[in-house]
Amino acid sequence: MGRLSGKIALLTGAASGIAAATAQRFADEGAAVAGLDVQQPDAARWKRVEASAPAASFHTASVASEAQVKAAIAEVVAQHGGFDILINAAGVAGGGALETLEEDEWDRIVGINLKGIFLMCKHAVAPILARGGGSIVNIASIEGLVASEAATPYGASKGGVVQLTRNLAVDLTHRGIRVNSVCPGLVETPMVEMVTSATEGPLAALKEQFIGNHLMRRLGQPEEIANAILFLASDEASFVTGSTLVVDGGWTAGARTDVDLLGA
Ligand SMILES: NC(=O)c1ccc[n+]([C@@H]2O[C@H](COP(=O)([O-])OP(=O)(O)OC[C@H]3O[C@@H](n4cnc5c(N)ncnc54)[C@H](O)[C@@H]3O)[C@@H](O)[C@H]2O)c1
Repeated sequence: MGRLSGKIALLTGAASGIAAATAQRFADEGAAVAGLDVQQPDAARWKRVEASAPAASFHTASVASEAQVKAAIAEVVAQHGGFDILINAAGVAGGGALETLEEDEWDRIVGINLKGIFLMCKHAVAPILARGGGSIVNIASIEGLVASEAATPYGASKGGVVQLTRNLAVDLTHRGIRVNSVCPGLVETPMVEMVTSATEGPLAALKEQFIGNHLMRRLGQPEEIANAILFLASDEASFVTGSTLVVDGGWTAGARTDVDLLGA
């Protein structure tokens, strides 16, 4: 028996990174999986998901468009009869210097990262309640808890996701839907590939600095975030709602210098 046996899960951003790893983990734990993304998943990778979850389906839509969200959720309901779990992982990075940041760029990032979660949750309530209740997990970021340089729209959107999660928990928990967020540290996915794959120059220096910010002195792997999402999505988290699970290798706990202060 898998930890998600009998459950149906809808995951946004499922073509890549954290949500793709989570789709695989969920399928391996016995869930039927529906992926949603603006791009198609890698065919071989999605075939592995289907090997564990033969009823798996993939839906093309932008979470930033209410019409597309409604249509995609209707497709998922038609195909799977509803769903128990919603994972909101679709997201984009971006930002820049405040004085030159274009309004369109602000709207794009906040529209996907924050409004997209509002739209998905709005249209997911009825199908989740039709299944007798369930669980929503929103992927925020440590950048919703602490600020980084030149990242105003991203940080603001992720801070918004942390608080939106609490608002949703207040509105939905008594109706049978738990809502929680996960705040990852820096995770090796295509979103941050430009930095994580850098071997020289300023981006390589930035990568080293990011690695040093984690008490574990390494970056996270998508599967490590999938483990946390799995816990919150599953019935093992039956008393957890409105919470923020930080999965960041110790980044936000505090700084440790490389000076040998304790002689250890
Ligand atoms: N990688 C990290 O270091 C990190 C750290 C903290 C939080 N996060 C968050 O985790 C989530 C997943 O990111 P990832 O690292 O796996 O990135 P990723 O780029 O690998 O995956 C994000 C997916 O979202 C999809 N997407 C983008 N815009 C969309 C839209 N409008 N509608 C539907 N899908 C859309 C992309 O096509 C992509 O497949 C994001 O919300 C991100 O902000 C990532």
